[in-house]
Amino acid sequence: MSIKILGIESSCDETAASVSLDGRTILSDVVASQAEEHKKFGGVVPEIASRRHAENIYSTVQSALAKADCTLSDIDGIAVTYAPGLIGALLVGTSFAKGLAMAANIPLVPVHHIAGHISSNYIAHPDLEPPYLCLVASGGHSLIVEVKDYTSFHIIGRTRDDAAGEAFDKCARVLGFPYPGGVHVDKAAQTGDPCKYKLPMPRVTGGEFDFSFSGLKTAVINLAHNAEQKGEELDKASLAASFQKTAAEMLVSRTIAAAKLYGAKKIAVAGGVAANSEVRRLMEHECGKRGIKVYLPPISLCGDNGSMIACQGYYDFLAGKRADESLNAIATLSLE
Ligand code: KG4
Ligand code: ZN
Repeated sequence: MSIKILGIESSCDETAASVSLDGRTILSDVVASQAEEHKKFGGVVPEIASRRHAENIYSTVQSALAKADCTLSDIDGIAVTYAPGLIGALLVGTSFAKGLAMAANIPLVPVHHIAGHISSNYIAHPDLEPPYLCLVASGGHSLIVEVKDYTSFHIIGRTRDDAAGEAFDKCARVLGFPYPGGVHVDKAAQTGDPCKYKLPMPRVTGGEFDFSFSGLKTAVINLAHNAEQKGEELDKASLAASFQKTAAEMLVSRTIAAAKLYGAKKIAVAGGVAANSEVRRLMEHECGKRGIKVYLPPISLCGDNGSMIACQGYYDFLAGKRADESLNAIATLSLE
């Protein structure tokens, strides 16, 4: 018998819903993004995010069901992101999912947002199965995860300060690009010289697989401000390329080191920063040299979406994870 899961995501600034069939087949994927509105403020305004989720969630879920040619009676489980994320934003999704699940008497499945990002690769790669290592790099998280099973994770490395996406966004702001800036840094870097500006590759003591981005971010800010004070013209494309190269080296080198220790033969990359062209290129290059197989999600599944929640929701559903009306949203929660 096939299993259909409705996935609902509202942890940041995307209201998203999707229906999955047996986990990896996506029947619909609907995203209502608020990025344009938050752009004016240079970042996500939590209060506005919650309000837009409240306005958009009903139509987003309706549309995901309609596009999948489903009604609630066809749905076996309602999966919802309950942690981590902006608390007000998460509360909209969890409250909506609870109401729907209770009213229609459908099992409710709580999904961890990062497990959702990890699942994005299952949709694109039918052959990918645990165990493997996954580099998760997004606006809020940077982790190296040992994916032991579909629902069992061990964190090997993490950021000591900023998340990778956060560093990309701050670098973008200094260079005058709008929020979210990662994609603009990536675009600008295409025409720049990545060796023009020497940027520090921060060392992290006591954590071979941990990341640090704040020193790199500060170096970019200082370089830009110094140029401004001296009236020198800044080569934005080259600064973007230099930053991107250093950030990608940090992410990829730590993941490769972890793969060596863990004897991993498969590495996946997930999260918004998995869309970065240099991260993708360097990971493929370094893994290619070592005979490690790389799994990259399509760009459309790198950022927040409902499909990754509907896919992970399927595996959580199979593992028997359930929530009742007492389910609460949690802003900070480890994946382990
Ligand atoms: O996974 P995501 O949509 O949201 C979180 O869960 O945080 O990640 C968003 C982050 C933003 O910081 C955005 O600038 C970054 O992913 N991003 C990129 C690229 N596309 C999105 N960073 C670097 N290069 C890109 N091409
Ligand atoms: Zn995310």
